[in-house]
Amino acid sequence: MAKLIFFPAFKILLISVVSSTGDDGENFARTIDRKLSGLHKKEKLTHYKVYWHDMVSGPNPTSIIIHAPVKNSTTYFGGISMIDNALTAKVSRNSTLLGQAQGFYAGAAQKELGFIMAMNFVFKTGKYNGSTITILGRNSAMSKVREMPIVGGSGLFRFARGYVEARTKWVNFTSVDATVEYSCYVLHY
Ligand SMILES: *[C@@H]1O[C@H](CO)[C@@H](O)[C@H](O)[C@H]1NC(C)=O
Ligand SMILES: *[C@@H]1O[C@H](CO)[C@@H](O)[C@H](O)[C@H]1NC(C)=O
Ligand SMILES: *[C@@H]1O[C@H](CO)[C@@H](O)[C@H](O)[C@H]1NC(C)=O
Ligand SMILES: *[C@@H]1O[C@H](CO)[C@@H](O)[C@H](O)[C@H]1NC(C)=O
Repeated sequence: MAKLIFFPAFKILLISVVSSTGDDGENFARTIDRKLSGLHKKEKLTHYKVYWHDMVSGPNPTSIIIHAPVKNSTTYFGGISMIDNALTAKVSRNSTLLGQAQGFYAGAAQKELGFIMAMNFVFKTGKYNGSTITILGRNSAMSKVREMPIVGGSGLFRFARGYVEARTKWVNFTSVDATVEYSCYVLHY
């Protein structure tokens, strides 16, 4: 009984505080119609594969170490690489350029090779031009398949979520240049 009386009283108190001041910071956000953001449509699942070229060597590297690994680390722990890697339609670096993978990866595991990947796939072709997806996840690079979450997107991929499966297609262990297939499963509207 005490609760029942208290609850409405509490609400009335809140309402009166809000309406009496008007601009106390409580009213900056409001609920809007989902239709305004196209969210009344059915969510769709889109799949594509892109090939990610981590070019560390050569005259025009696209993957550059900006912070060296911590002393003695054999697993790149503490190392950070900034990337602006080409994303192509086929495994060959010379195939159609679809966009860029922009962001960084860092060595996040001390006892094995395990990167944290934080990157945007920025698409540059057709109707996808300018749209992005954001990948943030763990990449145990020596595993055959690595799954990482897609945590968001923009443009056609607004409200995106999903995951990618990364598979190394080619690696030069001397230069550590590599080509990785990213098979992307994206839910969006
Ligand atoms: C790094 O290696 C050197 C030589 O092998 C050793 O003396 C030192 O203690 C090691 N440092 C760390 C932080 O493990
Ligand atoms: C890309 O094409 C150039 C010539 O246009 C060739 O020399 C090179 O080997 C090709 N690279 C790949 C990865 O196919
Ligand atoms: C993509 O969009 C940019 C900026 O709007 C434009 O400059 C470029 O020509 C477009 N590319 C394609 C392939 O449509
Ligand atoms: C691997 O990288 C090394 C060092 O950059 C280079 O000399 C060699 O030609 C590369 N091998 C292949 C197969 O690309």
